[in-house]
Amino acid sequence: MIKYSFIIGLLIAFSSCSINGKHDLASDNSAQIESKIDSIMALMTVEEKIGQMTQIDQQFLDTIQDIADYGIGSLLSGGGSHPDTNHFEAWTDLYDEYQRVALSSRLGIPLIYGIDAVHGHNNVHGATIFPHNVGLGCANDYEVCRKVSEATAVEVAATGINWNFSPCIAIAEDERWGRHYEGYSEDVEIVTNMGVASIEGYQTKTLGSSNISVVACAKHFIGDGATEWGTGMDNQPDKIDRGNALISDSLIRAKYLPPYIAAIEAGVGTVMASFNSINGLKCHANGYLFNDLLKGELGFDGFVISDWQGIDEIPGDYKSDIINSVNSGVDMIMVPGAVKWGGEHYKTFISLFKESFDEGLITEERIDDAVRRILRIKFRSGLMKNPMADRSLLEKAGSEEHRAIAREAVQKSQVLLKNDNMLPLANDKNYLVCGSGANDIGKQCGGWTIEWQGALGDITEGTTIWEGISEQTSATLSADGKTDGSFDAAVVVIGENPYTEMEGDSDTLYLSKEDKQTIANVEALNIPYTVVLITGRPLIVTEEIDAADAFMVAWLPGTEGDGVSDVLFGDVAPSGKLSFSWPKDMENVPVNFGDEDYDPLFKLGYGLTY
Ligand code: BGC
Ligand code: BGC
Repeated sequence: MIKYSFIIGLLIAFSSCSINGKHDLASDNSAQIESKIDSIMALMTVEEKIGQMTQIDQQFLDTIQDIADYGIGSLLSGGGSHPDTNHFEAWTDLYDEYQRVALSSRLGIPLIYGIDAVHGHNNVHGATIFPHNVGLGCANDYEVCRKVSEATAVEVAATGINWNFSPCIAIAEDERWGRHYEGYSEDVEIVTNMGVASIEGYQTKTLGSSNISVVACAKHFIGDGATEWGTGMDNQPDKIDRGNALISDSLIRAKYLPPYIAAIEAGVGTVMASFNSINGLKCHANGYLFNDLLKGELGFDGFVISDWQGIDEIPGDYKSDIINSVNSGVDMIMVPGAVKWGGEHYKTFISLFKESFDEGLITEERIDDAVRRILRIKFRSGLMKNPMADRSLLEKAGSEEHRAIAREAVQKSQVLLKNDNMLPLANDKNYLVCGSGANDIGKQCGGWTIEWQGALGDITEGTTIWEGISEQTSATLSADGKTDGSFDAAVVVIGENPYTEMEGDSDTLYLSKEDKQTIANVEALNIPYTVVLITGRPLIVTEEIDAADAFMVAWLPGTEGDGVSDVLFGDVAPSGKLSFSWPKDMENVPVNFGDEDYDPLFKLGYGLTY
């Protein structure tokens, strides 16, 4: 039995230790950290080690005390898993409450707390919401992408949270995939550069506070954007998400691995396993990928997290799922405890894991390797020294400074596809502004905003595109474009409603009836008009582009809609270039640079300016 006082002494030693380069996850693995890990691990029971390898969604905790009783290593907030009242201070309070319980456990190892802050701290009301990755890929501006991630890290750290499940460095190849917009590009180089910029932004400290240290997560390893239509979850013929990718090892190395190699060089702390299969084998059960390739060959020394109930999709029962995934090199399991959504309880996970260990089906050596990796990242990120939230950062959350960075990112991500002497708009003219996306913050933010799938309407604070336009000139808003008034020209803002995983899979990438009707209503006015398209992916709009005088793609700009109007009015010239090829019709989908009969409507890299 270890003496209580000895543990306390040890904890004080941890908290007063100075770790060189603690904010810089790219720094070398110091011998000092490894020896501290040795001393902690010498004290740990196997139950405590399994606890470190367990991640629970906070909303599914039976009682908060379970964090201490089971020595839980990590919590997450999945999409929409917020405190009862969704505002910044409430998140910080929630985090600190959980962390206090973790620190009261026998060993007092702090929790690493994960969240999907994939375009700003997007679960939190009032956060600055940046363009989704598809827009950042079209901007293809390293410094802008880094600044976006840096500002995101500050807002995340303001709530205490220290781990971001971002960047998604998928090479998204099929426009029908509901996660297309989470990828930067179909081009390996753009994905690689933006991925590194983003990791640098999350993991290093430059914005003047001492407690910013948000661990990045490169996801989803590997081939998430390469799945075949019709092989979706449970082999749904009308789905693609979580499907099967038919890719050879040499293709993996040539195309999908380079962004991960660069991410590891940039010091990424964690990698997430992907839901998809490769040639029929679920990535979560693919030891070659994690043990041999990622950790062996590439020398990744951080830890691998599973995806949400991702091990549950491995064929076999839950116990064999645990054995397969852990032995394949997954170090921490996102359980997450969602029994009501077909998941397993974390207590089931923990007891089956222990049973597998007792039966020798998972070795202590494998467990020790996983725990060492987890503790290494907890040390390197500065979490061991500063487990509690730094509330001085709260004043930066949703701040003018961050919104200015978002606005710049929006400006640079606009892609102009057509312009027949219509743009830029003039400040002394009278415009009609209409369409389903003109005045809707939820729509311009897209999925992964406040809720998992996002939502329409007034879901958070920000500036709509309409508000941006009306600051520039005299303008009139009409949702459907029906009006008796007379106008010089019209701006029609239309496009996709929010979606993400699974629900966003679609093989009919057309405008809605409502949007088509709005265009028809505007055409009846016989005035020039420009279309602004809100979308997570190229849509089939060949006819609409033909008919319009100008056509601009705004992607999913986020809360700073004035970044769109800045470009419309020529305060900033359009500079975005397509980071995805744009198909002509559904027969042309999927379309990617390098295809044998490459013949899109617009090629990769297209984008006009004035
Ligand atoms: C997604 C991941 C995400 C995780 C946690 C999963 O469904 O695939 O990208 O990080 O949930 O929310
Ligand atoms: C969670 C998400 C997660 C998804 C996966 C949702 O209920 O909120 O974070 O990505 O489930 O299926």
